[in-house]
Amino acid sequence: MLTHRDHCGLCHSKDIVRILDLGSMPPSNAFLTKADLGKPEPVYPLEVMFCRDCTAVQLGAVLDPRDIFTDYRYFTSASGPLVQHFHRMAESLAQRFIESSNDLVVEIGGNDGSLLEAFPKGQRVLNIDPSVNAVKMSLAKGIPTHKGFFDSHIARILASKSAKLVIANNVMAHIPDIRDAVLGVETMLAPDGVFVFEVHSFANLFSQSGWDQIYHEHVYYHTLKALKRLLEEFGLEVFDLETYPIHGEVMRVYAARPGVYPVTDGPSRQLRMEMSWYLHREDTYRDFAGRVEDTKKQLVHFSDEAKRCGASVVGYGAPAKGNTLLNYTGIHLDYIVDTTPEKQGCFTPGSHIEIFPPEKLLTDTPDHLMILAWNYAGEIKEKERVLHDRIGSFVVPMPTLWYL
Ligand code: TYD
Repeated sequence: MLTHRDHCGLCHSKDIVRILDLGSMPPSNAFLTKADLGKPEPVYPLEVMFCRDCTAVQLGAVLDPRDIFTDYRYFTSASGPLVQHFHRMAESLAQRFIESSNDLVVEIGGNDGSLLEAFPKGQRVLNIDPSVNAVKMSLAKGIPTHKGFFDSHIARILASKSAKLVIANNVMAHIPDIRDAVLGVETMLAPDGVFVFEVHSFANLFSQSGWDQIYHEHVYYHTLKALKRLLEEFGLEVFDLETYPIHGEVMRVYAARPGVYPVTDGPSRQLRMEMSWYLHREDTYRDFAGRVEDTKKQLVHFSDEAKRCGASVVGYGAPAKGNTLLNYTGIHLDYIVDTTPEKQGCFTPGSHIEIFPPEKLLTDTPDHLMILAWNYAGEIKEKERVLHDRIGSFVVPMPTLWYL
């Protein structure tokens, strides 16, 4: 189910304008089996809006989260570096904010419990997550887990005014009714409770021109400026902010009731950086849309030239973001290789490109390899030295087309 937005999700202003239109496409993680290929494939508009009141950046048409997250097959534990990052986060939060094992730690969207399991043994914890599969794994680890979507109603029932820590990692970009979610967080926090969340920063997406990270799962593309205003509206003060190089860059934002914790210079540093890039101005987003169009032209030109010369182009990695790129540009790839067993044998949503295990490249030598998982370009070059010598042309599509 799709809802078209006629107001800003953060401040409810009606003064929102479209700044980027990527066309209509299926959800980026809706990979198809061979049997699915003959069936109708639902597509939804992918357009980005800017709020002239609070400067928030968000999708113009929002899918019902139940259609995406109930049968979600993403598990945090599948990504080693992310698990390590979360374990370090748990240690740091426990040291900084937890005084006794009786202090309640709630995680919203805690997935398979990869973060909560790293809190000291015996700590009172609660995971709230809608994914049937992830909840099973979280429960199997002995973590008290509530299966369901988070909202202010469930917050009141589960933990009214009693949580010392509320954590929400990679969630604040995904919940369409973000105002109700923040109300829910405020409802759960004890008087000296801390709300800490990690979210991708729009500043990073903007600076890297990583527009392929725009897809239906990501409803919001946050700046601290817009988030801060929202949190303040619900009585929360941002008192600290750190950034970490995870999938580009995430902001880790700390908020609490005003005056409870000293304010560091992290938030003002981030705000200054956002101001210096003019992320509060509509024309900046129009320039950004122009850059997106330029990359599309480059990629289409590359693809047309390859076709004209009879050269083959194979995709390396089938990330969700690759599907935004393929569907928006319409470029042709002969096939894709990916290490994920669940994706092998399937076809990309919309573009219908077949996905094979990487071993196919042991016997096949395409003319070009396009690195769709470009956020791992460094690791891929390192790991694929032999292939790189053999193929010669590793093409990276972002921020503008370049050769690895
Ligand atoms: P991911 O980084 O999770 O991006 P997204 O959030 O956009 O889906 O996905 C990376 C994909 O690339 C994943 O399907 C695994 C694949 N991959 C490879 O096939 N080989 C590699 O060496 C790497 C690093 C990733």
